[in-house]
Amino acid sequence: MAGRIPDSFIDDLLARIDIVDVIQERVPLKKAGRDWSARCPFHDERSPSFTVSPHKQFYHCFGCGAHGSAIKFLMDYDRLEFPDAIEELAARVGLKVPYEGGRAAAPQQSDTADLYTVLDQSARYFQHALADSATARAYFDGRGLDAATIAAFGLGYAPDAYDGLRSALGNSPQRINLLEKAGMLTRGERGGMPYDRFRDRVMFPIQDRRGRIIAFGGRVLAKSDGPKYLNSPETPLFHKGRELFALWQVRQAQQKMGRIIVVEGYMDVIALHQHGLPQAVATLGTATTREHAEILFRNCADVYFCFDGDRAGRQAAWRAAESVLPRMREGRQAHFLFLPDGEDPDTLIRQEGNAGFEQRLTAATPLSEFFFAHQESGTDLRTADGRARLAERCKELIASIPEGSFRDRMLELLTDKTAIRWSLSASLSPQMREGVEEMLEERVAQLRGASGPSADAAPTARSSGGVDAQRSVVRYAVALLLQNPNFIESVDAPPYAFAALRRPGVGLLIELIDICRSRPAVNTAALLQQYEQREEGAALRKLAVLALHGDAGTLQREFADALTVLSAQTKQQRTDDLIAKQADSGLDDEEKAELRGLLAARRR
Ligand code: UTP
Ligand code: MN
Repeated sequence: MAGRIPDSFIDDLLARIDIVDVIQERVPLKKAGRDWSARCPFHDERSPSFTVSPHKQFYHCFGCGAHGSAIKFLMDYDRLEFPDAIEELAARVGLKVPYEGGRAAAPQQSDTADLYTVLDQSARYFQHALADSATARAYFDGRGLDAATIAAFGLGYAPDAYDGLRSALGNSPQRINLLEKAGMLTRGERGGMPYDRFRDRVMFPIQDRRGRIIAFGGRVLAKSDGPKYLNSPETPLFHKGRELFALWQVRQAQQKMGRIIVVEGYMDVIALHQHGLPQAVATLGTATTREHAEILFRNCADVYFCFDGDRAGRQAAWRAAESVLPRMREGRQAHFLFLPDGEDPDTLIRQEGNAGFEQRLTAATPLSEFFFAHQESGTDLRTADGRARLAERCKELIASIPEGSFRDRMLELLTDKTAIRWSLSASLSPQMREGVEEMLEERVAQLRGASGPSADAAPTARSSGGVDAQRSVVRYAVALLLQNPNFIESVDAPPYAFAALRRPGVGLLIELIDICRSRPAVNTAALLQQYEQREEGAALRKLAVLALHGDAGTLQREFADALTVLSAQTKQQRTDDLIAKQADSGLDDEEKAELRGLLAARRR
């Protein structure tokens, strides 16, 4: 695992690059007022609802809700992983990405480059060896692979020798070291000289999302005692829980991906590609992880999982389902396809052809159906106890689904099945569920307030409003600071007078204030990036695009005023608390003095 990239670096990076340039290179933007706009690259639309804000340094689509910083854009548009997107942006402005935990944690640049090179050379060595080996060629031939497929996947053969690769490529101690680090050489249990890990196996190169070779899988040619398939170990370049075999080939084959098919084996993938389904990928002898699920969905919205119909296959499918649930954002769909016993996609597509397999895909089971079929097995829904057990069993998993229509549907199904209604309100903080409309209304009311729409029409004018209005002040302050992190200048150093205020959102406001104070370069995009994975992210996104009217000076004054209102509310809260305590259990001298002070201040 690469080390963590410090937030301060990300702030700095996002402050240096211009998101408009980054997006403009990929999507033609037109100037629209202060912002730029285009037809959204993430969904089909006729009129442009995609906007890019140079001021906030982020993009937002009012149609599909796509949004984020330049980092997020590269992740979604170029389908890069987070660290790769950062590397790419850093390269634009000539910055070197620091990784926390030092060199050991981060693959050091030159070293990494050498690893890629040595793996690439290994692949070529295996390809030459395949050309030289009649037996190996006969093996692929026997499995029906044509020359184009062998070339497209860069297949090869590792000769039956302990020092084939080593003597071909390992001509210095440094090179041997590198080959070992790349996972190509291994040492026996008793140490000694490293030797070829892969011997007498046909070889499948594993490529990363940019087409670079990062590992290999190797299969024995005939039945033998050892494992049928051997994969590279985890190396600085290869983390099997994050990689998918043939994703590179899939992306080469099609610009717009309609669907992606996940199968279990190398040979399954290759057979599907050769038979006209270049949408197949495979995990690398591991269960489907959440990381896999995210990568799959980032590539396309429809994912088909293919598993054996036996017990082990169903078990693997369930593990995939568990990994997929937290990734089921709006618009994404997962399907499960179970194959007849004893068959795999490789054998099936050869028997039934493309059309037959296509039919199976059409008939695949939707995730919702598979989910309940699995969860209901062994429970009797005719009894109250069985229904309660089902609800209990599903609760947490359904709660792991992101907010949206899929989760709503799953809840509905569960309610239908169990006749037990339960809500997810516990998993969402209430202030975050409320729309921004209320706040907008409040804001309009402020501007229309007694003193008219002037700078004085700040929230102070309404400090005696109801609970909703008071809550809106917090939200208003959050929106102002989020959109203008430089307003931090108007905040006095901690302790904050309003820290004790018991209102939803106060904690978040203080957290934002702390972030803005400690990271002077932070902008709106960087703040949103920070909350991307958190529950508050959705609400912050809405506040980030909320239209705030008034020039910078006015807004900054309103921010300061909002904090003043919150401090006043905190005093009021303390006063109420003391009065209540007085009636209840009495006050000590110190508290009495405090209350007198508070009441006197209020009269002034
Ligand atoms: P299968 O045994 O289903 O492989 O394992 P397959 O692709 O159908 O094999 P063929 O058709 O006999 O060539 C599925 C996947 O599990 C991993 C490999 O990634 C393989 O492609 N595996 C399997 C291993 O890692 N090691 C093994 O010994 C077996
Ligand atoms: Mn097979």
